[in-house]
Amino acid sequence: MIKNTIVALLLIGSGSVFAAQTATTASAEQPMKHKDMNAHHMGKHQGKNSDGAYHHRFNDAEAWAKKFDQPERDAWQKPEQIIDALTLPPNALVADVGAGTGYFSVRIAKRVLEGKVFAADIEPDMVRYLGERAKRENLTNITPVQASAESPNLAEPVDVMLFVDAYHHIGNRVAYFSNLAASLNADGRLVLVDFNMESPNGPPKEHLVSLEKVTEELKAAGYKLVQTHDFLPQQYFVVFQKIAP
Ligand SMILES: C[S@@+](CC[C@H](N)C(=O)[O-])C[C@H]1O[C@@H](n2cnc3c(N)ncnc32)[C@H](O)[C@@H]1O
Repeated sequence: MIKNTIVALLLIGSGSVFAAQTATTASAEQPMKHKDMNAHHMGKHQGKNSDGAYHHRFNDAEAWAKKFDQPERDAWQKPEQIIDALTLPPNALVADVGAGTGYFSVRIAKRVLEGKVFAADIEPDMVRYLGERAKRENLTNITPVQASAESPNLAEPVDVMLFVDAYHHIGNRVAYFSNLAASLNADGRLVLVDFNMESPNGPPKEHLVSLEKVTEELKAAGYKLVQTHDFLPQQYFVVFQKIAP
């Protein structure tokens, strides 16, 4: 009886710790409890695939907007500081790949008023939302783009290609980024921002890709690491360029 009570107390205790952790991590990129979240994604099951990616659906953009665009995110995401660090000229051509609800796309569009932002996403509902948001916010320099698993499908080469919390969703990354080189201008920059292992936010840890692995994969795809910024508390922020042929 005493033994059973102790076991019960231990279970209740560990349950509350788990609940607390779940509440914290759910603030960013946890899969949502949504009927479509269990559906196949582009012909693949949710979860880690043999192509090395973390696949799950991001439909119901309005619901995701409540997470991705919550004002509390700004404190640790530091979007304006990230964009400052990119030193974009006003006529820059930028691709925000895995743009989601446009958290970065709209901020960048306001900085490159003579340039363009291609906001590319694989999820059709995000592409729909991005178009509506650009119209609503009167940002005529945003072009929403329907990406595929193989390519962001950019209409022209860009100066900066940004992946925020998106790299770990890309499958067959060495092939993907090798092909992507054609859409990046000669001195263009490939910019990645993604969660580090210690972050309380972001996807489940088993889906994170360490900076070491990223650097290794991108080297194999023909890129070199040229800049590292260390002001983000939960993420790495790194810049790659193409290795000259
Ligand atoms: C965690 S969200 C990040 C959204 C946005 N970058 C942000 O910081 O708020 C990841 C996004 O990547 C998109 N995505 C996943 N795989 C993709 C792919 N292969 N090509 C383009 N977008 C992809 C998802 O649909 C989703 O909108």
